[in-house]
Amino acid sequence: MTDYYSALGPLLRMAWGDNLHFGYWEGPSDRSSPQEATDRFTDVLAERLGVGVGCRVLDAGCGIGSPALRVAASTGAEVLGITISGQQVDQAVELAERAGMSDRVRFQLKDAMDTGFEAESFAHKPVSPGPGAR
Ligand SMILES: C[S@@+](CC[C@H](N)C(=O)[O-])C[C@H]1O[C@@H](n2cnc3c(N)ncnc32)[C@H](O)[C@@H]1O
Repeated sequence: MTDYYSALGPLLRMAWGDNLHFGYWEGPSDRSSPQEATDRFTDVLAERLGVGVGCRVLDAGCGIGSPALRVAASTGAEVLGITISGQQVDQAVELAERAGMSDRVRFQLKDAMDTGFEAESFAHKPVSPGPGAR
């Protein structure tokens, strides 16, 4: 698996962009590009999970980090991405640095099947409602 993503990474990126996941198209008339639709998929997921400021998110199988960066940027959450491809970690770290988000979005070479993380290391803490909210 490590070799697969390291070897095919550049080709996958050329064909599909920075997100290696499904796209979300609104319907048959939606002409969004794969990049737009896969970004939308990330946004829908983050919204439905209620990710927000104060959350610490684990992105297990983070690819080159594009979804993690997007979630952190749109929600204010902290994100740790893990992958078993060292090449992806290097690319993801570089993207985070270029985006100026290395303080909130980190990446590690780690197997999701054996992370060694303590239970509840990643917290879903709902954002407190603003003034006037019911
Ligand atoms: C289809 S790609 C998705 C990448 C990313 N989530 C995205 O949407 O762009 C699958 C990812 O899972 C990672 N992966 C596969 N098995 C893994 C494991 N056991 N632990 C951590 N990452 C893993 C791969 O290296 C790759 O980054």
